[in-house]
Amino acid sequence: MRNVAIYPGSFDPITCGHVDIVQRGLNVFDRIVVAIAVNPRKQTTFDDDERVAMICEAFPDDPRVEVVCFTGLLVDYCRRRGIKTVLRGLRALSDFEFEFQLASMNRRLTDEVDSIFMMTSDEHFFVSSSLVREVVQNGGDVTGLVPEPVRRRLLARFPPPPVT
Ligand code: COA
Repeated sequence: MRNVAIYPGSFDPITCGHVDIVQRGLNVFDRIVVAIAVNPRKQTTFDDDERVAMICEAFPDDPRVEVVCFTGLLVDYCRRRGIKTVLRGLRALSDFEFEFQLASMNRRLTDEVDSIFMMTSDEHFFVSSSLVREVVQNGGDVTGLVPEPVRRRLLARFPPPPVT
């Protein structure tokens, strides 16, 4: 499947930065599989079903976007699906080191899968899922940083603190 890329991550929750990478990825690939890496040892704020739902809500009725969960190695999942390309976003220099390590390890594991990178748009380079959660937990406004359905779910999970 040459015109398909997989976009893996924890997406806890999906942010507008992730959405931007998927949307721009769709200018290059016919289809993108957004793949939630399920790590039983990692505590997440949103469970697998919620994370799938939030990603689906971010791309309503777009048949080019598929949302899946996977466990185990990303390259093994790619091989099972016949996917050859991993898409990742690069926000800043600090991302480079981890991404370089991840892509190199994946290459070491298999030469059937390669990685390509897109620079995150400048309006999103500072956004991360944990920062978004922290802002909401402290009563801040994340409008424009996450898709609207995600903002509503965050507010339901972390109601605004009473003003003192
Ligand atoms: N815009 C906004 N935020 C972004 C972003 C973007 N374009 N790209 C990444 N981020 C943020 C995420 O929100 C997340 O923020 P947080 O740390 O505050 O939660 C952070 O960057 C890292 O997120 P993510 O891209 O999801 O990376 P990850 O480290 O959680 O996931 C996997 C990396 C899932 C790709 C990797 O662990 C994996 O492949 N796991 C499967 C097992 C495997 O094969 N391991 C590799 C062996 S080498």
